[in-house]
Amino acid sequence: MLSQQDLKQQAADAALTLIEPHLIAQAVIGVGTGSTADLFIDGLAKYRGRFRGAVASSERSAKRLSDLGILVLDLNEVQTMPVYVDGADEINIQLHMIKGGGGALTREKIVSSVAQQFICIADESKLVESLGRFPLPIEVLPMAREAVARVVQKLGGKPVLRQGFTTDNGNQILDVHGMTINNAPELERQLNNISGVVTNGLFAIRPAHVALLATQQGVRRLG
Ligand code: A5P
Repeated sequence: MLSQQDLKQQAADAALTLIEPHLIAQAVIGVGTGSTADLFIDGLAKYRGRFRGAVASSERSAKRLSDLGILVLDLNEVQTMPVYVDGADEINIQLHMIKGGGGALTREKIVSSVAQQFICIADESKLVESLGRFPLPIEVLPMAREAVARVVQKLGGKPVLRQGFTTDNGNQILDVHGMTINNAPELERQLNNISGVVTNGLFAIRPAHVALLATQQGVRRLG
């Protein structure tokens, strides 16, 4: 029986195999945040020197990359990336995701938007029939926290402030419990339209292109 850690490792290894053809001199790789992304970063270090560098979706991942000798570029220096590799808190069969459990959702959405392909790596526990059991993170400007929370309540959610947490962008996170998510792209748009919302953790308007989900029977590829 493989542990959850083993499964995460398998997903990270599968992503490395998949992206290996992209690891060429000029290539810049988009790198996500979280425990699965950390394993991907560690594996990527073995290819150091074969590709130009990486853009990170958090200060935490940037540090891990540079500690391993991988050049970390500012997104403003980069026009395109062949791939962005990251974990998810939940993913469904349509490859819509909830992300932001680690609080890095805003930079994750920005960096992944510049990549040609989003590759999601996760253990099978992240695959769900419908999204929403995992509380949906919303990054808000601190001054707008209560105003956003009231609108979210009207939409049927129960927002809870992530205590003692500040994002890399100096903002706060509301974790929204109890949301029924029938139409994820529509809800993503609706939440984006609330004044004071920086980003919400639904990645559905632009879902993952490929999901590599590690199971006890091997890595299952969706997309
Ligand atoms: C970070 O903000 C998140 O979006 C992560 O991608 C997500 O929480 C998955 O993290 P793990 O790989 O640690 O489960």
